[in-house]
Amino acid sequence: MITGGAGFIGSHLTIYLVNKYPDYLVVNLDKLTYAGNLENLKSIENKENYHFIKGDITDSGLVENIVEKFQFDGIFHLAAESHVDRSIQAPNEFAMTNIIGTLNLLNAAKNLWKSNPREKLFYHISTDEVYGSLGSTGLFRENTPYDPRSPYSASKASSDHFVRAYFHTYDIPVVISNCSNNYGPFQFPEKLIPLMINNILHQKNLPVYGDGKNVRDWLYVEDHISAMDLIFHSGKPGETYNIGGENEMENIELVYLLCDISDELLQRPMGSSRELITFVKDRPGHDRRYAIDTSKIKSALHWEPATSPEEGFRSTVQWYLDNRDWLKSVTSGDYKAYYDKFYGTD
Ligand code: NAD
Ligand code: DAU
Repeated sequence: MITGGAGFIGSHLTIYLVNKYPDYLVVNLDKLTYAGNLENLKSIENKENYHFIKGDITDSGLVENIVEKFQFDGIFHLAAESHVDRSIQAPNEFAMTNIIGTLNLLNAAKNLWKSNPREKLFYHISTDEVYGSLGSTGLFRENTPYDPRSPYSASKASSDHFVRAYFHTYDIPVVISNCSNNYGPFQFPEKLIPLMINNILHQKNLPVYGDGKNVRDWLYVEDHISAMDLIFHSGKPGETYNIGGENEMENIELVYLLCDISDELLQRPMGSSRELITFVKDRPGHDRRYAIDTSKIKSALHWEPATSPEEGFRSTVQWYLDNRDWLKSVTSGDYKAYYDKFYGTD
């Protein structure tokens, strides 16, 4: 089972697993919030080894029934409220989905696997934000103490703690990975990269928070997927693996790059998109810098990212420019109205 398989990272993972492992039945459980989009999964929706269920992980009865019915051997848990700015506006929703939803899944896995936990795995997909904020030096390691500073990262940190507690207390085989900022196709345009590309396209202001010097470590989404495949199949239960792109950039540097790639691809005068940049009020509690030490996953599982930043950023801008209908539909809310009609409102 994959939870959150209609979201940004989840849809890449679902497509990858369905195509790479035809003998696995991949069940995607997703509530289809504003961030979940079945359009992303068009290429595999009719495959025999794929099954979609619209459902909410905060509904413990529903989760128990699905887990009991399908008798899963493995769970990739990605479903979450994932946007920091939204967590500042509505922290309770983050606690419900990210903490209670994770607990419901852990309880269901515990019941299902109690007699035979061997060869089973609960894989919890988490974030580097649980480690807090770095100064100008240092890297997040697997043993860096947790120091979450936004409601989003606090909810993810809490879920990580529950996952580890279930490993120690109930012998549930678990593994956790904490990854840095992903980018690529299918990301909802509330996040920095697709938001900037969408605004450049429509010649709207490009809102850079604070002084624009906050640093993120960017990883192409398919490289996160290859790491997840390795961790799921070869990772050691009870372990944590940090994943990152070793590609630190200041936000302003990244926005300049997106402007310049877009100007070139849209054949606009070079430099014209940079004129749209507007410095705006900072995000409250804005973490200054994230950076990952990837030595553990590289040495233990021989993982290496395959996509260079030049290639990744360029192909990502190109994808959003080529998929303006996708951008238009997810920003108009038409697709949400369609799902509500198709599946019934909650
Ligand atoms: P996303 O917001 O694009 O997708 C989340 C998915 O979860 C959506 O399909 C949504 O419909 C579904 N969902 C939300 N609430 C649900 C609920 N109550 N029940 C069932 N489904 C629900 O998120 P993403 O960026 O793809 O992130 C996926 C996971 O990876 C999250 O757990 C996130 O914390 C983690 N992560 C993300 C990044 C990143 O850069 N995006 C980096 C590291 C870790
Ligand atoms: O580090 C992993 C995390 O990366 C994931 O766990 C989260 O789910 C994901 O949303 C992302 O969190 P960030 O807060 O780093 O991503 P976001 O795209 O919101 O912002 C990236 C940086 O850009 C951050 O420093 C805030 C800044 N920003 C963001 C937006 C949306 C701006 O300057 N302007 C903006 O409009």
